[in-house]
Amino acid sequence: MELPEVGEKFLVRQASGLLDGLMEYREMMMAYSCAIKEVKTKFDVLDTEFHIRNKRNPISTIHTRLKSQTSILEKMHRIGCPPTLENIEEQLNDIAGVRVICSYVDDIYEIADALIRQDDIHLLRKKDYIAHPKPNGYRSLHLIVSVPVFFAECKKDMKVEVQIRTIAMDFWASLEHQIKYKKDISNSDEIIGRLKNCADVIAETDLEMQKIRQEMEKAQDSREDVETIFEKLKKFDVPIV
Ligand code: GTP
Ligand code: MG
Repeated sequence: MELPEVGEKFLVRQASGLLDGLMEYREMMMAYSCAIKEVKTKFDVLDTEFHIRNKRNPISTIHTRLKSQTSILEKMHRIGCPPTLENIEEQLNDIAGVRVICSYVDDIYEIADALIRQDDIHLLRKKDYIAHPKPNGYRSLHLIVSVPVFFAECKKDMKVEVQIRTIAMDFWASLEHQIKYKKDISNSDEIIGRLKNCADVIAETDLEMQKIRQEMEKAQDSREDVETIFEKLKKFDVPIV
């Protein structure tokens, strides 16, 4: 395509400005993606250590997600902030997200405390929706942490949103999230009340399951017969993975 000379220079300037912006955006997202890997590895390590010591895994699954470009723009628009890279990094805490699904409620606090104690982790915010559930019944422990990521020539402290919840809390949150999208019914008081009731039943069940596990562990620990000694010896057969 033949362009007039002034027009071509203008276009080149615009295009290279756009390219620089896109490169910086990609670098920022790469840094968040690496921060997710750092935090996920920390949880994997804690799970392995716990498994070796206690012969059970406190973590059932770990999900990670990088916030999409559209969600980033939508949120910046919602909070009325121009979507520059500086503003995005300053205003958004959830570009990098790690969701840890635990077996039991006490595992949540143990895993969270073990993460926060690590000297490269800086806790920026903690919301305990388990001790203080949301009015709709939502339960989960939310942490915003900052983790250093080391690159070839620099180190960057990146923010990561960590949500820790039990399998049961996750089951409720996933379905409630789906139902919320059916906006025509989700606002009815009846539906809200029934969902809240389900959340309370689930919370009670979570605590009962934990109590049963604790009682079984206590009974097991106090036994000293041959069978139990062999059972304890078996702990050493646990593969280290
Ligand atoms: P945003 O909701 O991301 O703007 O952040 P916030 O600062 O209000 O944080 P909060 O810790 O309250 O919630 C963050 C995330 O937790 C949400 O993006 C959801 O993933 C999850 N969450 C919070 N409340 C609910 C809820 O009522 N139901 C479900 N299903 N998920 C929730
Ligand atoms: Mg969010």
